Amino acid sequence: MNPSKRRTVIAGNWKMNFTPAEATAFINAIKPMVAGKDNCDIIFCAPYVTIAAAQAAAEGSNIKIGAENVHFAEKGAYTGEVSAQMLTACGVEYVIIGHSERRQYFGETDETVNLRTKAALAAGMKVILCLGEVKEQRLSGITDEVVAMQTKLDLAGISAEDLKNVIIAYEPVWAIGTGMVATPQSAQDAAQAFREHLRATFNEHVAQAVRVLYGGSVSSKNAVELITEPDVDGFLIGGAALDVDELTRVCTLTLATTSSHK
Ligand code: PGA
Repeated sequence: MNPSKRRTVIAGNWKMNFTPAEATAFINAIKPMVAGKDNCDIIFCAPYVTIAAAQAAAEGSNIKIGAENVHFAEKGAYTGEVSAQMLTACGVEYVIIGHSERRQYFGETDETVNLRTKAALAAGMKVILCLGEVKEQRLSGITDEVVAMQTKLDLAGISAEDLKNVIIAYEPVWAIGTGMVATPQSAQDAAQAFREHLRATFNEHVAQAVRVLYGGSVSSKNAVELITEPDVDGFLIGGAALDVDELTRVCTLTLATTSSHK
């Protein structure tokens, strides 16, 4: 498969930001800026309480609204959690799973990431699966092993068919919210390593079809050089996805580059 056939993804992770009114204002402001940019998927993952307002504002546009997590049970005694069935009942198609902040602060493990991913896929959702190494692991030179192990564990038991609904986001933890962006070469190396894993576990077609995003301090200053890498198919963006002007610049630069290079 020609890599240029992979559709670009620009996904924003709002984290614990934006009330419903703020989300509405943001979507209303960004909507005209991304109108007509139909050769990519534009997704904002919002806090649960903000999803409905963001969806209402995004209606009729090319913007999709996703969630930032999902539980693996369908329903039951899991105080504070939300199931995939609840999300799909609200028309939510995308969900981030395994973000490093969930792993760092809320005890998320590869095992629970795997369970959540399976539950979301079984409910018909599309998953943005986040993984990446912490600083100490990078400094110890074990990035490849760490990322390979996360990929193996997080995707355990997931079929080639289900992988059509998985987007992988390589997010080196040391780059998130720090302004320290990975070099384009290391983003490319990680993206390539994912494809090698998928090739070995599934087949060439799956390896070429899965979209791999980079996340960690993406901005208009680094988007072009990152997206130029052949295996980087888009971005998962935190800080810059809270700023309409900056996000507009990232979208415009990214899509201008993918349409001319890829
Ligand atoms: P950042 O966050 O762009 O603010 O580094 C990325 C993320 O956490 O997904």
